[in-house]
Amino acid sequence: MERTLSIIKPDGVERGLIGEVVQRFEKAGIRIVAMKMRHLTKKEAEAFYAVHKERPFFDSLTTYMSSGPIVVMVLEGENVIQRNRELMGATNPADAAPGTIRKDFALDVEKNTVHGSDAPETAQKEIAFFFSELEICS
Ligand code: CMP
Repeated sequence: MERTLSIIKPDGVERGLIGEVVQRFEKAGIRIVAMKMRHLTKKEAEAFYAVHKERPFFDSLTTYMSSGPIVVMVLEGENVIQRNRELMGATNPADAAPGTIRKDFALDVEKNTVHGSDAPETAQKEIAFFFSELEICS
């Protein structure tokens, strides 16, 4: 059984897409085992996305990610990291497959509605960034 971190980003929360995204996970048989709303500070967003700190979009990304509330979730299931990535679609909505969350809702490559961990090690780190083990209802 695998876990991954999912984030509904500020553009998704602001446009009332929490239920839509949650429904896609549940319909796919993915279990939500932890969930909360947070409004990150700029420093917290910088810490979360530290791996991207040399990228030209880092300042814009972390300003955006701290611009409004987000919903963070721990998803659990077989192969859930890859399955969540398939449900999300490509980072850039212009490249995302039809029927994916980003194709259907993302505004652009930055305001792309959802985040999902990309590998087991990052999933573990990203989950620990937001949740203690006691908060996860496995
Ligand atoms: P995410 O999957 O959360 O991982 C890093 C984020 O950086 C990404 O989604 C986008 O929100 C953002 N991002 C990635 N590439 C670009 C880009 N070329 N320009 C602006 N933002 C980007």
